[in-house]
Order: sequence, then C-alpha cells, then structure tokens
Amino acid sequence: MKFSVVLVLVSHILIAVSGRWHQSESTLAVHSVPLGSEASFHWRVELTTEQIVAEVHYAAEEYSWFAVGFSNYGELKQADYCVLWVDWHRETHLEDASSDVDSKLNTDEQQDCTNFEWKKHGNVTKFTFTRKFDTCDERDYVIEVDNRTISQFLLTLITVYYLIASVQRGTTHLVWLKGSGPLTSVAGLQVADAKSSGMSRTELLRIHHPKPQFPADAWQHEIRADRVQVPNVETTYWCHVQKLPSSMRRKHHVLQFGPAIQQGNEHLVHHMEVFHCAGPADVDVPLYNGPCDAPNRPERTQICKKVLAAWAMGADAFVYPEEAGLPIGGENFNRFVMLEVHYNNPELLAGNVDSSGIRFIFTKSLRKYDAGVIELGLEYTDKMAIPPGQEAFLLSGHCISECTGVGLPQSGIKIFGSQLHTHLTGRRVVTRHIRDGEELPMLNYDNHYSTHFQEIRLLPQPVTVLPGDSLITTCTYETLDRENVTLGGFAISDEMCVNYIHYYPNSKLEVCKSAISDDALRTYFRYMKEWESQRTSGDKGISDNYKSIEWTKVRVAALHDLYEVAPLGMQCNGSDGSRLPGLWDNIASTPVRLPLAPMARGCP
Ligand SMILES: *[C@@H]1O[C@H](CO)[C@@H](O)[C@H](O)[C@H]1NC(C)=O
Ligand SMILES: *[C@@H]1O[C@H](CO)[C@@H](O)[C@H](O)[C@H]1NC(C)=O
Ligand SMILES: *[C@@H]1O[C@H](CO)[C@@H](O)[C@H](O)[C@H]1NC(C)=O
Ligand SMILES: *[C@@H]1O[C@H](CO)[C@@H](O)[C@H](O)[C@H]1NC(C)=O
Repeated sequence: MKFSVVLVLVSHILIAVSGRWHQSESTLAVHSVPLGSEASFHWRVELTTEQIVAEVHYAAEEYSWFAVGFSNYGELKQADYCVLWVDWHRETHLEDASSDVDSKLNTDEQQDCTNFEWKKHGNVTKFTFTRKFDTCDERDYVIEVDNRTISQFLLTLITVYYLIASVQRGTTHLVWLKGSGPLTSVAGLQVADAKSSGMSRTELLRIHHPKPQFPADAWQHEIRADRVQVPNVETTYWCHVQKLPSSMRRKHHVLQFGPAIQQGNEHLVHHMEVFHCAGPADVDVPLYNGPCDAPNRPERTQICKKVLAAWAMGADAFVYPEEAGLPIGGENFNRFVMLEVHYNNPELLAGNVDSSGIRFIFTKSLRKYDAGVIELGLEYTDKMAIPPGQEAFLLSGHCISECTGVGLPQSGIKIFGSQLHTHLTGRRVVTRHIRDGEELPMLNYDNHYSTHFQEIRLLPQPVTVLPGDSLITTCTYETLDRENVTLGGFAISDEMCVNYIHYYPNSKLEVCKSAISDDALRTYFRYMKEWESQRTSGDKGISDNYKSIEWTKVRVAALHDLYEVAPLGMQCNGSDGSRLPGLWDNIASTPVRLPLAPMARGCP
C-alpha cells in the first residue's frame, strides 16, 4: 500500500524572517512517517500558534475507526488519542480520547483535536486535524515548549528566533489503533478491540533547515542494499560492505546524506547507518553481504565501525551547514564502507525484496571548514554502574572546562548536530552547557529517548562552545526488569551515555568524557566492605565488586550521591588517540553556580 503526500488543507500565516537557519519556509515543511504498512502520518509544525497540523491516511473497510496519538514510550495504554469513528448513520466523528491503565478508551471532557476535515477515496480515508503543543488538559500528552531561552535572546533578537530555540526536541512516540465499526461512541472501546495497532517514532517538532546552495560539481552517490530478501522475522540487521568509487582518492566533502528508500518499503526500513572501514588505505575488506550477526561474517569487516551517516525512519535528510562539509576520501583514506540496514517487520510480512540505502551528496569543491565529531559523556568502562530495579537512575559524563580549554580553538566551535546514544535501558539524555558557572540553554536533549531511534539531529540553530565552557551529559536509565547491576561497557546489555556532537571547524579535541576517579571508586568499595559488610574486596575487579553489592534503597541513594560529588578521571583525547596535555585524574567537575530555572508550562 502506497500513499502520496498531498497536503495541506489548512491555511496559515507566514512570518517574514531573515537568516539562513530560520526562514519562514521552516513552518511550511511537511514531514511524514508510516504507521504500519497501511497508514501514514503527515504533519506540519506551526511555531507561532504552537500547534501541529496533522493529516492521516489509512486504508480500511467501510465504517472502520482509526485512532492516532501520543504516549511516552510507545505504549498503547495510558496514551492520548484523536479517534476517527463512524456511527450507523454513516456520520463521521473525530474525538479526543485517552486510554487508561486498563487499556480502556475514555472521551476527554476537554476536546483538543480541532479543525477536523476528512475525505475518502475508495478504501483510503484521509483526515486532518490540529493539536496544540500543550493543551493544558492533564489527560493529554504534552509536547513541551521550553521558554527559558527567551531571556537570552529577547533583547537582541526577534520572537521567532526564540520560538525556534525553544521548541521541544527529541523523540515523539506516535501510537495508532484501527478497528471495525460502526460504533455508537468511543467510550468503552478497548485497545484490544483494534484489529491492528502499532507505534512509530519521529522527531515531531523539528525545524526544517533550508538547503544551502550546492556547487555545480556536486554529485550523488548511493550506498544501497542489493535486492535483500527481507526475512519474515521481526528484526533483521543486514550488513553490506561496498567500495567507494576511485574518484574518492581525492578529498571530498559530504554536503548531505539522506534516505533512499525503495518505494513501497517505507514501513520496513527502520534505520540505516553507513560505517567507514577505518584502516590503512591499502587494506582490503571482504565485500560481505548478509545478516550482520551471521557466524560467517568475516572478522575483517569488524573494522567498519566509524559512523559516516545515520538515518532513522521518520527523519529527513541531514544537510551540513553552508560553511562546512564532512571530509571523506583522500590519499590515506580506505575506500571501503559498510551499509547496515535494520529491517523492522512486526507484521512478519514475507516475500519483500529491498534495495534501500543512503544517498550522499559529495563535492570536491571543498567548503571553508572540515566538520568534525567530538564524543561527550561517559567513558566506555565499567567504572559507572546502574543498580537493578530502578525507575530512573542518573549517570553524568563531564566535559570539563580544563579540557575544552586546551582542546578548542580560541574562537570556539559551532555545534550544528548531535547524536545521543545509550543502550537498552536509556530513557532520557540531556547535554547541559555551562559558561563561567552560568548554565546556558541546553545543547540538546531527548526526554523520550529510545535506543531504537538514534538519528543524527540538526540543532535548531548552531551553538557556539568556547574554550573553558563545560558540557555535562546526563542519561536516565530504567532497570525495573533487571535483576543484576548494569555496568558501563560495549555489549548491548551494558550501558553507554554519549552525545556525538557534529561541529566545525575541525579541532584537535575528539574525546571529552569522564568516569568516577579510580581512587574514589576504590574507597567506595572499601567502605562497602567495612561499613556495609558487602563482599567487595581490593582483590576483585570493578565489575565483580559492583556485582558483589546487594542493592537496597539506601545503597542506591548512596551510589547516586557518590557519583554526584566524587572527583573524575577525564579522557581528554585528541584525534590521534593521545591524551591532550594536562592532569586528568582526580579532577573536580566544573561547578554550576547558576543552573537554569525549571521549565514552566503556560497553563492556568
Ligand atoms: C484497499 O484497496 C486496495 C486496492 O483495491 C487493496 O489492495 C487493499 O487490500 C485494500 N485494503 C483494505 C485494508 O481494505
Ligand atoms: C544475575 O547474576 C546471577 C549471579 O551472578 C546469575 O546467576 C544470573 O544469571 C544473573 N541474571 C541475569 C538475568 O543475568
Ligand atoms: C585516550 O588516551 C589514552 C592515553 O593515550 C588512552 O589510553 C585511551 O584509550 C584514549 N581514549 C579514547 C576513548 O580514545
Ligand atoms: C515561561 O512561561 C511561564 C508560564 O507561562 C512564565 O511564568 C515564565 O515567566 C515564562 N518564562 C520566560 C522566561 O518567559
């Protein structure tokens, strides 16, 4: 089933704004995401009126009802829906409803799915409605708007600038249900009455960035899968090693990368990444083409793990800012890359063949700056741990001012993109930005983070980070269903807390991450043995020591407090892998004297 994106019914007011990163056309962009294989969601963000205009297309038999809405992490119960339903007089209604803990739908007293219009062509229904970011109805999902940035900008800049800086970022989980009718009312419906249902993740309130001009010699190159028979299992990771053309012996810039999805497979291709096989230029990598986890995948393909491009369902193309491009190619560049496609097939459809991939735009007319990537957050080690049974446990990784001081150029860097990263238990990620003790607007955040939706996202506007600034990345983990402690590390069952920031001009700093200092950790394990009678010991390794602790409420709280105040061990490394000069052990985190005020909602 295919749908073309034809909108849009509702007219709106244009705001005249100048500036490359925030032109009025940003409010015009229409985004799309599939809802299963027979429906799709299209929307536009209206910043000035703080609402989204949505259009849903779905195929169904006569009298069917269709609910679409939001929930925190994609659960169908305790979700907020707009429900289209048909009564037996063939009258069509749209109602604001929510599902409770027992999955029962109830009509909301306050109705917030407004400006309803619909059309039908054959068995396809298309309907539109508008929805305020924050309806102030406690039963509705809040699309938060952070207005704390206003004081920063108020004096010098116009209102729209503030609006763009302040809209919520991060993941929104769209949920949907489809069932048969006619109905007499929405009230009393159960989630289980739906014949099909599902969830799609997207960045709902994204800012559309107008495309900069590409030079005349810009060319397109697609790294695609080659007629993959998509297995009829829920999850498949397909890996395909390919070699870039010989023109890449010369240095190029990537200006843009984006999805090249085979038509009709929009609902199957969940996310894709292109990895560079970073190694000496003359190293050959086998052109493997098969499941990523197959036992016969050659060991030599394991060097293909430096991320060049990442895309996830519902995302637009990633466009580099006018001043910068991602360097690729050159004499010392190994031309092998690996495409990884995650096929998500919850309907267990058989017989699909796919050749989707990522489309790059390259140029040899180099832009002014090379773009670079810095890793912020926690070191990949077992020094940090998350006790089991936690609803929300926080770990923070620091990029302290001493490290940005030696690693960044005097005029600072401009950060334009960010990719947040945790493994399975991460629920929230935020990177705070501190200058001279004062907290500036957050660099990036996602309050509904999912490990299954890791896009490289453009920031609403580039953020300047100066030498001496500090960046604190905090991840919130949920381990309610784990019986043992979760440790930091590389395995998918371990945890990470990372923000890969994309910036220019490329500088020598590449890793700015922390963990608790070794001394503080040793002291902690000794304390646990002597005062809490735990089986920790100076002879055991870190992982074993953490595993030797029986986690009570008090011990969990004490671990949290320890992580908050303990001195750090810093990894402040350059792009050649060596440590930048400085004393990086047993060092204090940069203090935050003036934190941001908590976020306020504009509700009575
Ligand atoms: C809708 O109609 C199309 C074409 O007639 C058909 O292929 C499809 O199965 C129908 N879908 C539903 C849900 O009825
Ligand atoms: C938790 O740890 C115990 C003791 O090491 C081990 O036997 C058990 O398999 C672990 N449970 C899980 C789910 O890994
Ligand atoms: C940082 O540099 C140190 C010293 O060279 C090295 O041991 C460590 O592995 C590096 N860390 C990273 C993440 O590159
Ligand atoms: C943000 O909105 C809240 C609620 O409307 C208001 O009280 C607060 O003053 C606003 N903050 C700024 C900086 O405008």
